[in-house]
Amino acid sequence: MEDESEEGEAPPVTAQIDNPAGDRVIVLIGLMGAGKSTVGRRLAARLGVNFLDTDAEIETAAGMTIPEIFEKHGEPAFRRGENKVIERLLQDMSKGTPPGGVLATGGGAYMDPQTRENIAHYGVSVWLRADVELLLRRVARRNNRPLLKQGDARETMLRLRDERYPVYALADIIVDSVEAPHEEVVDMIIEKLGVYFAHPQGQAQ
Ligand code: S3P
Repeated sequence: MEDESEEGEAPPVTAQIDNPAGDRVIVLIGLMGAGKSTVGRRLAARLGVNFLDTDAEIETAAGMTIPEIFEKHGEPAFRRGENKVIERLLQDMSKGTPPGGVLATGGGAYMDPQTRENIAHYGVSVWLRADVELLLRRVARRNNRPLLKQGDARETMLRLRDERYPVYALADIIVDSVEAPHEEVVDMIIEKLGVYFAHPQGQAQ
């Protein structure tokens, strides 16, 4: 096997391990800034499976950015597209090579009952739960979230937390997205997936 690492260099932290979720899609949910895409990409690398991001797939399908979709067509149209794209991605990933993988969803996706059903059918849901102050610090770095451009970002985030956390709490697995290296959050997810798939009826929360 070709090895491009320097002699004596530590092995890459992304060394692969067995995927406890098998052919089920690991679906990351949570508020904006929870780290769904960043952690999801690293989790997929560790498990040696495919990674997809629903926001990126929606943008490709629509041929425009999410702020453009909100501006030109409005949030209800975005949600309809989001639900359809997630259903298609779940179907495709569960039949993929290898089947399964990691799917990072947009913060509002899990609020739709049909999407929750689809996620339960094809996957395992993992809520990356985070403190609002941490989320606000993270989202302040970028300007790509239309919901946070309307009014005060803190007020919006607090309202979304109150509306969404009781629904996110329906997830199969809950992991705290803390201010720690992403690899630590990945470790926690893998550990909880192992517990969940050893006792699928029990709680891994
Ligand atoms: C949204 C979250 C965004 C994106 C859209 C709406 C939401 O995704 O889907 O701006 O309703 O919370 P991220 O959670 O990846 O930022």
